[in-house]
Amino acid sequence: MKIGILTSGGDCAGLNAVMRAIGFYAYKNIKNCEIVGIPDGYGGLIRGESAPMGPEDFEGLLNLGGTVLGTRRTPFKTMTVPEENGETRLEKMRTNYKKMGLDCLFTLGGAGTHRTAALLCAEGCNVIGLPKTIDNDIYGTDVTFGFHTAVDVATEAIDRVRTTAASHGRTILVEVMGNKAGWLTLYAGIAAGAEVILLPEIPFRIDKICEAVRKNYEDGKPCNIIAVGEGAVLESEARFKKKERVFVRTERGETTVTQHLAEVIGEQTGFETRSMALGYIQRGGNPSAYDRVLSSRLGSYAGRLAAQGQFGVTVAVAGQEITFNALPDVAGKYKFVDPSSDIVRQAEDIGVCFGR
Ligand code: F6P
Repeated sequence: MKIGILTSGGDCAGLNAVMRAIGFYAYKNIKNCEIVGIPDGYGGLIRGESAPMGPEDFEGLLNLGGTVLGTRRTPFKTMTVPEENGETRLEKMRTNYKKMGLDCLFTLGGAGTHRTAALLCAEGCNVIGLPKTIDNDIYGTDVTFGFHTAVDVATEAIDRVRTTAASHGRTILVEVMGNKAGWLTLYAGIAAGAEVILLPEIPFRIDKICEAVRKNYEDGKPCNIIAVGEGAVLESEARFKKKERVFVRTERGETTVTQHLAEVIGEQTGFETRSMALGYIQRGGNPSAYDRVLSSRLGSYAGRLAAQGQFGVTVAVAGQEITFNALPDVAGKYKFVDPSSDIVRQAEDIGVCFGR
């Protein structure tokens, strides 16, 4: 069996660990197994590039961050657009899949990667997807690999912000990644004891935040930490699409939602306020123990699926079990924080303000 592996979309911790588990499984359990790595996500498949990966190439990958194959964003909408020679990227990939003699392709990626994977399946390629992303926003799986490492990193960073915030009696807004989903902000916010947590799924009101900040100081708290999801929106902006929101904010001369909020909260409360974005440190670095275990389980399970000839699926976590979903059932669908879920209510019950 000839297997191809690619990593696509934004990187995260655990990509290498998943590949290692696939490689270990395949070389141990599949007869006449051959594995090739495809560089730069779907880009490598479009160009028809691959390099052999022997058993030794999977050593040392368990605790290594990033991806040894490299990754790129290759937007789904570009896949079916004819290029110079009239051929689409999808057609090029199908042709190269055949030329490479692949029997199976593992695509490690997020929701966008899965969408393209579903297209490839429809073209007759044997694909197995694996759910990665720090955003944890992939539909059909309880958790994605990379998420918990990012939670740990963001939590530790916010812990550090808290000691300086407390020393100065400041309110500090910390912007957390996650795109349109608030999972990372919610988990890191709760783990770091943030006084205010702002999620894309719960449009916020500035007066509610200022009220909470004032009250916290009155109650003797030395500082306020506000964890802001990068996609957080004001209640008054919630009806707009992302592009419209960005346009209106730019027109008003605002930068990021976090910087804007810091200015307004500082003005309205009179307390010294600062803001910062955690940025790419949330994606970088080595996987946590949790993600090493999860990645090993997902990769091993995916290898078994390939051995059984079960293709056109993505691997998923359901409770304590690893399972799979049919790609067409989940591709392109997202999973968001439910504003009325237990976790949000439990945080609110212990005093966290969500700006509502
Ligand atoms: O990979 C997910 C993510 O980190 C999101 O949280 C963030 O919005 C986006 O990627 C950043 O993308 P880029 O790497 O293209 O700047």
